[in-house]
Amino acid sequence: MGKLRIGIIGLGTVGSGVYKTLQGNDSVEIVKIAVKNLNKPRSVNVPADIITDNPDEVIKNPSIDVVVELIGGVNPAYEYLETAIKNGKHIVTANKELLAKRGEELFNLAEEYNKVVLYEAAIAGGIPIIMPIKTILAGNKINKIHAILNGTTNYILTKMDTEGASYEDVLKEAQALGYAETDPTGDVEGFDAAYKITTLATIAFKKRVKIENVYREGITKIRKEDMAKANELGFKIKLIASAEIDDNGNADVRVHPMLVSKDNMLAHIDYVTNAVLISGHPIGSIVLSGPGAGEFPTASSVVGDILAIAAEFGKTDYMLPMMRCNHTQKANPVKIEDTYNKYYISITAPNAIGVIAKIGTICANKNISLSSILQKGVSEDNTADITVITETCQEKLIREVVEELKDCTVNSLIRVAS
Ligand SMILES: NC(=O)c1ccc[n+]([C@@H]2O[C@H](COP(=O)([O-])OP(=O)(O)OC[C@H]3O[C@@H](n4cnc5c(N)ncnc54)[C@H](OP(=O)(O)O)[C@@H]3O)[C@@H](O)[C@H]2O)c1
Repeated sequence: MGKLRIGIIGLGTVGSGVYKTLQGNDSVEIVKIAVKNLNKPRSVNVPADIITDNPDEVIKNPSIDVVVELIGGVNPAYEYLETAIKNGKHIVTANKELLAKRGEELFNLAEEYNKVVLYEAAIAGGIPIIMPIKTILAGNKINKIHAILNGTTNYILTKMDTEGASYEDVLKEAQALGYAETDPTGDVEGFDAAYKITTLATIAFKKRVKIENVYREGITKIRKEDMAKANELGFKIKLIASAEIDDNGNADVRVHPMLVSKDNMLAHIDYVTNAVLISGHPIGSIVLSGPGAGEFPTASSVVGDILAIAAEFGKTDYMLPMMRCNHTQKANPVKIEDTYNKYYISITAPNAIGVIAKIGTICANKNISLSSILQKGVSEDNTADITVITETCQEKLIREVVEELKDCTVNSLIRVAS
């Protein structure tokens, strides 16, 4: 067999890592690389006859077997991959946004043309997660995933925790160090993690989860006071991408900050490291952790996917059957108001006699039990800071509690991971 002939679209952070990693590889030949701007300085020396600014030289090139899409975004990435599949190419992509928004169409089209789409790098960068779920964990019924899938937000939360610094100060520092983008919205508002958990939940539950049904909250409202309080109570605050499914196919998929007990491994995943905790039967629970982004960790997953195709290419008419994604059943979405959680509530209340009793009564009237309620001293302005942790209750009811606490200021309402 000859070498697998690949074309790459995109030679940025990930594309450069893939190019470097494939140098000297015996089973893969890079035929063409398409970029946007031919004159841009690169960290790799690519022969001039390989690089082009015309994507058609990759996606319509008859001598290319696999198109590796590393440009990001939905358009024109989707159109490029559609053309590539129709021109007989298998696909490798690292594009989480594309998969979350148009994955179903892409997978269906690929199946129609008997092509595979591999996307290991799109979920947790360098952490292998799709291949393990599709192969060695295939005998499991996975019912829960809790994951840290965004390095930027985990870096910010870790710094806030260890340095007692504010969100705004740490964000500025992260931007200066290149850990956060100039426009950090995609990371800090949870979009990036939401894209990843949408596809991850679809694969793990074998039911289509739609991005529109994934509840999302970012980390911008987390205060350094919450960090300190969480610590005191035995927790860390993490941006958790969570997906749970019940026996009736009701899927509760969301991204938001959570208090995570220090007994939970996810509490100790710091800085840019990512981790995925998977629970199911018969495995029980496992945690996979490692670098969730970056040139070489991401290239590791992209190259792994390319080599998986190289290993089977030309040897079978139906390649990599276990890696295909053709779930027709949809998951039933669960609205956030209908979910059940424990809550951390930080309240500033007028320092009046009976204020704690009043909070307790408002909760009790809705059948919400409190696992702890604590007040520390009284401020100079004669207000008291009160922290409450509830037992499990419905989100709808806790929102009513917040409404009824109108004499007080509710500083934060953060869900607590179970
Ligand atoms: N960076 C990470 O750590 C990481 C981790 C996991 C997944 N990913 C995913 O990997 C993908 C690539 O990310 P990246 O960080 O490598 O991005 P990047 O550094 O911004 O690179 C993007 C590349 O795509 C090229 N490009 C953009 N639009 C194009 C077009 N219309 N036609 C041809 N080429 C085009 C750019 O060309 P020029 O160089 O000429 O501008 C550039 O080389 C994204 O989907 C991202 O979400 C990234």
